[in-house]
Amino acid sequence: MAHKAAATEGYLEGFQHFATQAIHTGQEPEQWNSMAVVPPISLATTFKQIAPGEYTGYEYSRSGNPTRSCLEKAVAALDGAKYCLAYASGLAATLNVAHLLKTGDEIICTSDVYGGTNRYFRRIASEMGLKITFVDCSDLKCLEAAISPETKLVWLETPTNPTLTVVDIQGCADITQKHKDVLLAVDNTFMSAYFQRPLALGADLCMYSATKYMNGHTDVVMGLVSVNCDKLYERLKFLQNALGAIPSPFDCYLLNRGLKTLHLRMKQHFQNAVEVAKYLENDPRVEKVIFPGLPSHPQYELTKRQCTGVPGMVTFYIKGDLEHARTFLKNLKLFVLAESLGGYESLAEHPAIMTHSSVPEEMRATLKISDTLIRLSVGLEDIEDIIEDLDHALKAAHPDLTNKN
Ligand SMILES: Cc1ncc(COP(=O)(O)O)c(C=O)c1O
Repeated sequence: MAHKAAATEGYLEGFQHFATQAIHTGQEPEQWNSMAVVPPISLATTFKQIAPGEYTGYEYSRSGNPTRSCLEKAVAALDGAKYCLAYASGLAATLNVAHLLKTGDEIICTSDVYGGTNRYFRRIASEMGLKITFVDCSDLKCLEAAISPETKLVWLETPTNPTLTVVDIQGCADITQKHKDVLLAVDNTFMSAYFQRPLALGADLCMYSATKYMNGHTDVVMGLVSVNCDKLYERLKFLQNALGAIPSPFDCYLLNRGLKTLHLRMKQHFQNAVEVAKYLENDPRVEKVIFPGLPSHPQYELTKRQCTGVPGMVTFYIKGDLEHARTFLKNLKLFVLAESLGGYESLAEHPAIMTHSSVPEEMRATLKISDTLIRLSVGLEDIEDIIEDLDHALKAAHPDLTNKN
C-alpha cells in the first residue's frame, strides 16, 4: 500500500476548491424560476424579446444557450480561467482557434499531435492560406529558432499523442511572450483540467477534446476552449456564433454532469495507470513502456513540476512485429479495441493503423509510431481484472516468452 501512495505523490499540489467548483460553479438554482438544483436541458432555439432588440440574456440558441452557459462557467472555473466556450467537437474548437489567424500567418505545431489535428492543419488550414510548421516543441531551442515574423500561433499538445512526450508549457510561454502577437494554445485533452492548468503556466488558450476525460463517459463529442484575455474571448465568442460549430443542449447537459465526478475519476485513472505501467515495464514480452508517471520517462521530473498527476494513458511497444501487436489487441477481452480515450472503460488501440493513419508514413516513422506501438486508455475497472486481461493477451501474442517465465 505504501508504494502505491508513493507512485502518486511528489506532483504539483492539487488545485484548491476543484471538486467544489466542479459541483457548484454555474449551477446555482437561483438562476431558474423553478430553482432546479440540476440545470435543465434548454431546447428552445429562440428566446422571446421584450421589444425588438431588447432581450433578457438569450436571443438565438447558436449565439447563446442556458444549458451551455452553465457548462462554460463550470469549465472556466476548473481551468482557473475567466471564460470558456464550448464547441461541437474538439476539432471544431481547433478550427475556431485557427480562425483567429488570417492568410499568410503561421502556426507552429508541436510535431507529435492527434492525427486529426495534424490532418486539419496540413490538409485544410494550409489550403486556406495558413503556413503550418511542425516543430519538436519539447526542445525549447527548436521552438525559439522556428518563430518567424509570420508566426501567430504556437500549438502544443502535452503529453503528445500517442508517444506521451511532455512539453514544458512554461518554457514555451517564456518564448512566445517575447514576441508580440504570438498566441500559445495547449491541447489539454490528455491531462484534463484536474491534472494540468495551461493558463496558469502562461498559455493564452487551453483547448480540449471534451469527448475524452472531461466528459469521461464515452457518450458525448465536444470541444472546449478557455481563456483569460477579454479581447481574445470576444473574438472567439464572435467566431463561435459566426462559424456555428456549437454543441447541442443535451450534450452540454451530459458534459456538465460528467464534470461532477472528474476529480474522482482522474484519481482512479492515475492509480490504475501507475499499476499497469509498472506491470508492463517489468514484463519480458514488452519492449518499452512510455508513461510520464514512471521514473524511466525522460520528462518525469517536468511532469511532476507541471502536473498534479498523470491520467490513464499508457503507451508501449510490444516485442516482435505487427502480427504480435495484432494478436495482442485481438485477444483483449476487458479492454475494448476502439479509438478514443478517457472514458470509464479501458480501451486499446493501434495508432499506426487507427488514430494516426492519416499522419504520413515518413512522419510516423520519425515520431516512432511503429507497427508494435500500442496505446492504452486505462479505465476505472478493478486493477486485478485489468492486469489479468493484459497478461492473457500478452500470453496469446507471445506464448514462447510466456512459457519461459
Ligand atoms: C488530443 C486530442 N485532441 C483533439 C482531438 C479531436 O477531438 P474530437 O474528436 O472531439 O473532435 C482528439 C480526438 O481524439 C484528441 O485525442
